[in-house]
Amino acid sequence: MKPVYEIAVVHGDGIGPEVCAAAVQVVKAALGPGSPLHFSEYPAGAEHFLKTGQSFPEPTFQACREADAILHGAGGLPGVIHPDGTEAGLDFTLRLRFELDLYANIRPVRLFEGVPSPLSGVKAGDIDYIILRENSEGLYAARGSGALLRGEVAVDTLVQTRSGIERIARKAFELARQSGGAPRDGVRRVTCCDKANVLRSYAFFRSVFDEVAKDYPDIATEHALVDAMAMYLVVKPGHFNVIVSENMFGDILSDLAAATVGGMGMAPSAEIGAANGFFQAAHGSAPDIAGQGIANPYGTILSAASMLDWLGHKHGDERLNQAAARIRRVTEDCLANGLLSADLKGRASTSEITRSVCDRLAAGRD
Ligand code: IPM
Ligand code: MN
Repeated sequence: MKPVYEIAVVHGDGIGPEVCAAAVQVVKAALGPGSPLHFSEYPAGAEHFLKTGQSFPEPTFQACREADAILHGAGGLPGVIHPDGTEAGLDFTLRLRFELDLYANIRPVRLFEGVPSPLSGVKAGDIDYIILRENSEGLYAARGSGALLRGEVAVDTLVQTRSGIERIARKAFELARQSGGAPRDGVRRVTCCDKANVLRSYAFFRSVFDEVAKDYPDIATEHALVDAMAMYLVVKPGHFNVIVSENMFGDILSDLAAATVGGMGMAPSAEIGAANGFFQAAHGSAPDIAGQGIANPYGTILSAASMLDWLGHKHGDERLNQAAARIRRVTEDCLANGLLSADLKGRASTSEITRSVCDRLAAGRD
Protein backbone atom coordinates (compact mmCIF):
# COMPACT_ATOMS: atom_id res chain seq x y z
CA MET A 1 0.00 0.00 0.00
CA LYS A 2 1.29 3.46 -0.85
CA PRO A 3 0.24 6.78 0.71
CA VAL A 4 0.05 8.38 -2.73
CA TYR A 5 -0.30 6.91 -6.22
CA GLU A 6 0.93 9.14 -9.02
CA ILE A 7 -1.28 8.99 -12.09
CA ALA A 8 0.09 10.47 -15.32
CA VAL A 9 -2.85 11.82 -17.32
CA VAL A 10 -2.58 12.53 -21.04
CA HIS A 11 -5.75 13.95 -22.58
CA GLY A 12 -4.72 13.67 -26.23
CA ASP A 13 -6.81 14.70 -29.21
CA GLY A 14 -10.40 14.92 -30.42
CA ILE A 15 -12.78 13.58 -27.77
CA GLY A 16 -9.76 12.48 -25.68
CA PRO A 17 -9.91 15.43 -23.25
CA GLU A 18 -13.68 15.01 -22.77
CA VAL A 19 -13.66 11.31 -21.94
CA CYS A 20 -10.45 11.54 -19.93
CA ALA A 21 -11.80 14.35 -17.74
CA ALA A 22 -14.96 12.29 -17.19
CA ALA A 23 -12.95 9.28 -16.02
CA VAL A 24 -10.81 11.38 -13.65
CA GLN A 25 -13.94 12.88 -12.07
CA VAL A 26 -15.48 9.45 -11.62
CA VAL A 27 -12.34 8.04 -9.99
CA LYS A 28 -12.22 11.03 -7.63
CA ALA A 29 -15.88 10.58 -6.73
CA ALA A 30 -15.37 6.87 -6.09
CA LEU A 31 -12.40 7.42 -3.76
CA GLY A 32 -13.82 10.44 -1.95
CA PRO A 33 -11.97 13.17 -0.04
CA GLY A 34 -9.17 10.95 1.31
CA SER A 35 -8.23 9.69 -2.15
CA PRO A 36 -4.63 8.45 -2.39
CA LEU A 37 -4.51 9.19 -6.12
CA HIS A 38 -2.63 12.23 -7.37
CA PHE A 39 -3.25 13.22 -10.98
CA SER A 40 -0.75 15.19 -13.09
CA GLU A 41 -1.38 16.16 -16.69
CA TYR A 42 1.20 15.93 -19.46
CA PRO A 43 1.03 16.82 -23.15
CA ALA A 44 1.25 14.43 -26.11
CA GLY A 45 -0.62 13.77 -29.34
CA ALA A 46 -1.36 15.19 -32.76
CA GLU A 47 -2.38 18.65 -31.60
CA HIS A 48 0.77 18.97 -29.53
CA PHE A 49 2.74 17.83 -32.57
CA LEU A 50 1.16 20.58 -34.68
CA LYS A 51 2.02 23.17 -32.03
CA THR A 52 5.54 22.07 -31.12
CA GLY A 53 6.77 19.52 -33.66
CA GLN A 54 6.80 16.87 -30.93
CA SER A 55 4.14 14.19 -30.60
CA PHE A 56 5.53 12.68 -27.40
CA PRO A 57 7.84 15.01 -25.46
CA GLU A 58 10.60 13.38 -23.42
CA PRO A 59 9.35 14.81 -20.06
CA THR A 60 5.95 13.22 -20.74
CA PHE A 61 7.65 9.89 -21.38
CA GLN A 62 9.72 10.14 -18.18
CA ALA A 63 6.63 11.05 -16.15
CA CYS A 64 4.68 8.12 -17.60
CA ARG A 65 7.50 5.71 -16.87
CA GLU A 66 7.82 6.90 -13.27
CA ALA A 67 4.08 7.12 -12.59
CA ASP A 68 2.15 4.39 -10.79
CA ALA A 69 -0.29 4.28 -13.72
CA ILE A 70 -1.03 6.13 -16.95
CA LEU A 71 -4.49 7.29 -18.04
CA HIS A 72 -5.10 8.44 -21.62
CA GLY A 73 -8.07 9.89 -23.49
CA ALA A 74 -7.38 9.19 -27.17
CA GLY A 75 -4.79 10.23 -29.73
CA GLY A 76 -4.51 11.12 -33.39
CA LEU A 77 -5.98 13.55 -35.91
CA PRO A 78 -6.49 12.80 -39.59
CA GLY A 79 -3.79 14.26 -41.82
CA VAL A 80 -1.34 14.85 -38.96
CA ILE A 81 1.28 12.48 -40.26
CA HIS A 82 5.00 11.75 -40.33
CA PRO A 83 6.89 11.83 -43.63
CA ASP A 84 6.32 8.06 -44.01
CA GLY A 85 2.54 8.62 -43.92
CA THR A 86 1.86 7.12 -40.46
CA GLU A 87 -0.01 9.14 -37.84
CA ALA A 88 1.99 11.24 -35.38
CA GLY A 89 -0.81 11.23 -32.83
CA LEU A 90 -0.37 7.49 -32.31
CA ASP A 91 3.25 7.81 -31.15
CA PHE A 92 2.20 8.17 -27.52
CA THR A 93 0.28 4.91 -27.37
CA LEU A 94 2.64 2.91 -29.55
CA ARG A 95 5.89 4.07 -27.94
CA LEU A 96 4.51 3.38 -24.48
CA ARG A 97 3.56 -0.14 -25.53
CA PHE A 98 7.02 -0.93 -26.85
CA GLU A 99 9.25 1.07 -24.54
CA LEU A 100 7.46 0.10 -21.33
CA ASP A 101 6.92 -3.45 -22.63
CA LEU A 102 3.15 -3.39 -22.06
CA TYR A 103 2.74 -6.85 -23.52
CA ALA A 104 -0.79 -7.68 -22.39
CA ASN A 105 -3.67 -5.69 -23.85
CA ILE A 106 -6.76 -6.86 -21.99
CA ARG A 107 -10.03 -5.95 -23.72
CA PRO A 108 -13.21 -7.03 -21.98
CA VAL A 109 -16.21 -7.38 -24.30
CA ARG A 110 -19.47 -7.39 -22.39
CA LEU A 111 -23.06 -6.63 -23.30
CA PHE A 112 -24.62 -4.56 -20.51
CA GLU A 113 -28.28 -4.30 -19.62
CA GLY A 114 -29.85 -1.40 -21.49
CA VAL A 115 -27.26 -1.25 -24.27
CA PRO A 116 -28.51 -2.08 -27.76
CA SER A 117 -26.62 -4.72 -29.77
CA PRO A 118 -26.91 -5.06 -33.55
CA LEU A 119 -27.02 -8.84 -33.07
CA SER A 120 -30.48 -10.35 -32.83
CA GLY A 121 -31.47 -12.57 -29.96
CA VAL A 122 -28.77 -11.54 -27.51
CA LYS A 123 -29.46 -10.09 -24.10
CA ALA A 124 -27.28 -8.65 -21.35
CA GLY A 125 -24.78 -11.20 -20.11
CA ASP A 126 -24.94 -13.33 -23.26
CA ILE A 127 -21.72 -11.73 -24.48
CA ASP A 128 -18.95 -11.63 -21.91
CA TYR A 129 -15.41 -12.47 -22.97
CA ILE A 130 -11.91 -11.01 -23.05
CA ILE A 131 -9.82 -10.37 -26.12
CA LEU A 132 -6.24 -10.64 -24.95
CA ARG A 133 -4.22 -8.86 -27.57
CA GLU A 134 -0.46 -9.41 -27.63
CA ASN A 135 0.74 -5.82 -27.44
CA SER A 136 4.52 -5.79 -27.79
CA GLU A 137 5.36 -7.70 -30.97
CA GLY A 138 3.47 -9.12 -33.98
CA LEU A 139 3.03 -6.96 -37.04
CA TYR A 140 3.03 -3.73 -35.02
CA ALA A 141 6.64 -4.42 -34.01
CA ALA A 142 7.61 -3.14 -37.46
CA ARG A 143 6.33 0.36 -36.61
CA GLY A 144 8.99 2.85 -37.69
CA SER A 145 11.26 0.12 -39.05
CA GLY A 146 9.57 -1.02 -42.22
CA ALA A 147 11.29 -0.48 -45.55
CA LEU A 148 10.13 1.27 -48.67
CA LEU A 149 12.28 0.25 -51.62
CA ARG A 150 12.58 2.76 -54.49
CA GLY A 151 8.97 3.81 -54.03
CA GLU A 152 7.96 0.42 -55.41
CA VAL A 153 8.06 -2.17 -52.64
CA ALA A 154 7.04 -1.78 -48.98
CA VAL A 155 7.92 -4.30 -46.29
CA ASP A 156 6.89 -4.60 -42.63
CA THR A 157 8.07 -7.62 -40.70
CA LEU A 158 5.83 -9.62 -38.36
CA VAL A 159 7.78 -10.62 -35.25
CA GLN A 160 6.84 -13.51 -32.96
CA THR A 161 9.21 -14.64 -30.23
CA ARG A 162 8.94 -17.74 -28.06
CA SER A 163 9.13 -15.69 -24.87
CA GLY A 164 6.58 -13.19 -26.18
CA ILE A 165 4.09 -15.92 -27.09
CA GLU A 166 4.68 -17.81 -23.85
CA ARG A 167 3.96 -14.86 -21.63
CA ILE A 168 0.80 -13.81 -23.45
CA ALA A 169 -0.47 -17.41 -23.50
CA ARG A 170 0.15 -17.70 -19.76
CA LYS A 171 -1.72 -14.47 -19.20
CA ALA A 172 -4.66 -15.83 -21.19
CA PHE A 173 -4.86 -18.93 -18.99
CA GLU A 174 -4.57 -16.88 -15.81
CA LEU A 175 -7.41 -14.63 -16.97
CA ALA A 176 -9.55 -17.67 -17.80
CA ARG A 177 -8.87 -19.11 -14.33
CA GLN A 178 -10.06 -15.91 -12.67
CA SER A 179 -13.18 -15.73 -14.84
CA GLY A 180 -16.59 -17.35 -14.56
CA GLY A 181 -16.21 -19.11 -17.93
CA ALA A 182 -18.09 -18.59 -21.18
CA PRO A 183 -21.71 -17.36 -20.86
CA ARG A 184 -23.17 -20.19 -22.95
CA ASP A 185 -21.78 -23.18 -21.03
CA GLY A 186 -19.78 -21.82 -18.08
CA VAL A 187 -16.62 -23.48 -19.43
CA ARG A 188 -13.33 -21.73 -18.73
CA ARG A 189 -11.86 -21.69 -22.19
CA VAL A 190 -8.94 -20.07 -24.02
CA THR A 191 -9.27 -19.74 -27.77
CA CYS A 192 -5.99 -19.31 -29.62
CA CYS A 193 -6.76 -17.15 -32.64
CA ASP A 194 -4.21 -17.24 -35.45
CA LYS A 195 -3.64 -17.94 -39.13
CA ALA A 196 -1.55 -21.06 -38.60
CA ASN A 197 -2.78 -22.60 -41.85
CA VAL A 198 -1.00 -20.00 -43.96
CA LEU A 199 1.98 -18.40 -42.21
CA ARG A 200 4.89 -19.91 -40.31
CA SER A 201 4.87 -17.19 -37.65
CA TYR A 202 1.26 -18.01 -36.73
CA ALA A 203 1.93 -21.76 -36.80
CA PHE A 204 4.71 -21.01 -34.29
CA PHE A 205 2.29 -18.92 -32.19
CA ARG A 206 -0.07 -21.89 -32.10
CA SER A 207 2.61 -24.44 -31.23
CA VAL A 208 3.99 -22.36 -28.36
CA PHE A 209 0.42 -21.76 -27.15
CA ASP A 210 -0.15 -25.55 -27.15
CA GLU A 211 2.98 -26.10 -25.08
CA VAL A 212 1.90 -23.54 -22.50
CA ALA A 213 -1.62 -25.05 -22.42
CA LYS A 214 -0.17 -28.25 -20.91
CA ASP A 215 0.44 -26.32 -17.68
CA TYR A 216 -3.28 -25.47 -17.42
CA PRO A 217 -5.18 -28.77 -17.64
CA ASP A 218 -8.16 -27.20 -15.85
CA ILE A 219 -8.79 -24.78 -18.74
CA ALA A 220 -10.36 -25.89 -22.05
CA THR A 221 -8.46 -24.85 -25.17
CA GLU A 222 -9.23 -24.58 -28.84
CA HIS A 223 -7.87 -22.98 -31.99
CA ALA A 224 -9.67 -20.65 -34.36
CA LEU A 225 -8.42 -19.12 -37.58
CA VAL A 226 -8.81 -15.38 -37.49
CA ASP A 227 -11.06 -15.16 -40.56
CA ALA A 228 -13.45 -17.72 -39.07
CA MET A 229 -13.18 -15.91 -35.75
CA ALA A 230 -14.56 -12.74 -37.33
CA MET A 231 -17.67 -14.76 -38.15
CA TYR A 232 -17.88 -16.59 -34.79
CA LEU A 233 -17.86 -13.30 -32.90
CA VAL A 234 -21.09 -12.48 -34.72
CA VAL A 235 -22.80 -15.89 -34.80
CA LYS A 236 -21.75 -17.43 -31.46
CA PRO A 237 -20.29 -14.75 -29.18
CA GLY A 238 -21.59 -16.57 -26.08
CA HIS A 239 -19.16 -19.41 -26.72
CA PHE A 240 -16.08 -17.36 -25.90
CA ASN A 241 -14.32 -16.75 -22.61
CA VAL A 242 -10.74 -15.62 -23.35
CA ILE A 243 -9.40 -15.16 -26.87
CA VAL A 244 -5.66 -14.68 -27.32
CA SER A 245 -4.11 -13.40 -30.50
CA GLU A 246 -1.26 -11.61 -32.20
CA ASN A 247 -1.18 -7.82 -31.99
CA MET A 248 -2.72 -6.82 -35.34
CA PHE A 249 -5.40 -9.53 -35.26
CA GLY A 250 -6.32 -8.43 -31.75
CA ASP A 251 -6.65 -4.86 -32.95
CA ILE A 252 -9.03 -5.77 -35.75
CA LEU A 253 -11.11 -8.26 -33.77
CA SER A 254 -11.55 -5.86 -30.88
CA ASP A 255 -13.39 -3.35 -33.07
CA LEU A 256 -15.65 -6.06 -34.44
CA ALA A 257 -16.28 -7.29 -30.91
CA ALA A 258 -17.01 -3.75 -29.68
CA ALA A 259 -19.66 -3.36 -32.38
CA THR A 260 -21.57 -6.32 -30.93
CA VAL A 261 -21.82 -4.71 -27.47
CA GLY A 262 -22.75 -1.15 -28.40
CA GLY A 263 -19.76 0.15 -30.33
CA MET A 264 -16.35 1.64 -29.68
CA GLY A 265 -17.66 3.80 -26.85
CA MET A 266 -18.22 0.62 -24.83
CA ALA A 267 -14.72 -0.81 -25.35
CA PRO A 268 -12.39 -0.46 -22.35
CA SER A 269 -8.83 -1.71 -22.30
CA ALA A 270 -5.90 -2.23 -19.96
CA GLU A 271 -2.34 -2.43 -21.27
CA ILE A 272 -0.15 -4.12 -18.75
CA GLY A 273 3.53 -4.95 -18.41
CA ALA A 274 5.62 -6.34 -15.56
CA ALA A 275 6.03 -2.85 -14.07
CA ASN A 276 3.69 -0.38 -15.77
CA GLY A 277 -0.01 -0.09 -16.54
CA PHE A 278 -1.59 2.09 -19.22
CA PHE A 279 -5.34 2.64 -19.39
CA GLN A 280 -7.44 4.04 -22.22
CA ALA A 281 -10.53 3.04 -24.15
CA ALA A 282 -9.94 1.09 -27.37
CA HIS A 283 -11.57 3.81 -29.48
CA GLY A 284 -9.90 6.59 -31.42
CA SER A 285 -10.17 10.36 -31.02
CA ALA A 286 -13.42 10.70 -33.06
CA PRO A 287 -12.62 14.24 -34.28
CA ASP A 288 -15.98 14.39 -36.06
CA ILE A 289 -17.83 14.67 -32.75
CA ALA A 290 -15.12 16.37 -30.65
CA GLY A 291 -16.14 19.45 -28.69
CA GLN A 292 -19.87 18.74 -28.95
CA GLY A 293 -20.16 17.24 -25.49
CA ILE A 294 -21.74 14.04 -26.81
CA ALA A 295 -18.83 11.59 -26.62
CA ASN A 296 -19.50 8.32 -24.82
CA PRO A 297 -17.33 8.29 -21.67
CA TYR A 298 -18.20 4.74 -20.50
CA GLY A 299 -15.22 3.08 -22.24
CA THR A 300 -12.74 5.38 -20.53
CA ILE A 301 -14.59 5.21 -17.20
CA LEU A 302 -14.42 1.41 -17.30
CA SER A 303 -10.74 1.58 -18.28
CA ALA A 304 -10.14 3.78 -15.23
CA ALA A 305 -11.92 1.15 -13.10
CA SER A 306 -9.45 -1.41 -14.47
CA MET A 307 -6.65 0.96 -13.49
CA LEU A 308 -7.89 0.98 -9.89
CA ASP A 309 -8.17 -2.80 -9.91
CA TRP A 310 -4.66 -3.23 -11.26
CA LEU A 311 -3.20 -0.75 -8.76
CA GLY A 312 -5.15 -2.32 -5.91
CA HIS A 313 -3.90 -5.82 -6.68
CA LYS A 314 -0.35 -4.69 -7.32
CA HIS A 315 -0.07 -2.81 -4.03
CA GLY A 316 -2.42 -4.87 -1.90
CA ASP A 317 -4.69 -1.83 -1.50
CA GLU A 318 -8.24 -3.03 -1.02
CA ARG A 319 -9.62 0.56 -1.10
CA LEU A 320 -8.78 0.77 -4.77
CA ASN A 321 -10.38 -2.56 -5.63
CA GLN A 322 -13.52 -1.54 -3.78
CA ALA A 323 -13.62 1.76 -5.68
CA ALA A 324 -13.26 -0.15 -8.96
CA ALA A 325 -16.14 -2.45 -8.06
CA ARG A 326 -18.31 0.54 -7.13
CA ILE A 327 -17.58 2.28 -10.42
CA ARG A 328 -18.55 -0.86 -12.30
CA ARG A 329 -21.79 -1.28 -10.36
CA VAL A 330 -22.80 2.37 -10.80
CA THR A 331 -21.89 2.31 -14.49
CA GLU A 332 -24.05 -0.75 -15.04
CA ASP A 333 -26.86 0.86 -13.12
CA CYS A 334 -26.70 4.05 -15.21
CA LEU A 335 -26.74 2.09 -18.46
CA ALA A 336 -29.63 -0.07 -17.30
CA ASN A 337 -31.53 3.11 -16.41
CA GLY A 338 -31.23 4.48 -19.93
CA LEU A 339 -28.40 6.93 -19.42
CA LEU A 340 -27.16 6.45 -22.97
CA SER A 341 -25.07 8.70 -25.21
CA ALA A 342 -25.85 9.40 -28.87
CA ASP A 343 -23.78 6.45 -30.17
CA LEU A 344 -26.02 4.17 -28.07
CA LYS A 345 -29.11 5.82 -29.55
CA GLY A 346 -29.60 7.84 -26.38
CA ARG A 347 -29.69 11.54 -25.63
CA ALA A 348 -27.44 11.89 -22.58
CA SER A 349 -24.45 14.20 -22.91
CA THR A 350 -20.96 13.33 -21.69
CA SER A 351 -21.40 15.62 -18.70
CA GLU A 352 -24.86 14.27 -17.82
CA ILE A 353 -23.49 10.74 -17.76
CA THR A 354 -20.44 11.78 -15.76
CA ARG A 355 -22.50 13.78 -13.26
CA SER A 356 -24.94 10.95 -12.80
CA VAL A 357 -22.19 8.37 -12.22
CA CYS A 358 -20.42 10.73 -9.78
CA ASP A 359 -23.63 11.63 -7.90
CA ARG A 360 -24.49 7.98 -7.40
CA LEU A 361 -20.98 7.26 -6.17
CA ALA A 362 -20.98 10.24 -3.80
CA ALA A 363 -24.39 9.28 -2.44
CA GLY A 364 -23.23 5.69 -1.89
CA ARG A 365 -25.94 4.45 -4.25
CA ASP A 366 -24.13 1.36 -5.39
C1 IPM B 1 -6.17 0.51 -30.43
C2 IPM B 1 -5.95 1.62 -31.42
C3 IPM B 1 -4.45 1.78 -31.57
C4 IPM B 1 -3.92 0.57 -32.31
C5 IPM B 1 -3.94 3.08 -32.14
C6 IPM B 1 -4.47 4.26 -31.37
C7 IPM B 1 -2.44 3.09 -32.17
O1 IPM B 1 -6.59 1.37 -32.62
O2 IPM B 1 -5.69 0.63 -29.30
O3 IPM B 1 -6.80 -0.49 -30.79
O4 IPM B 1 -3.92 0.55 -33.56
O5 IPM B 1 -3.50 -0.36 -31.65
MN1 MN C 1 -7.73 -0.45 -32.61
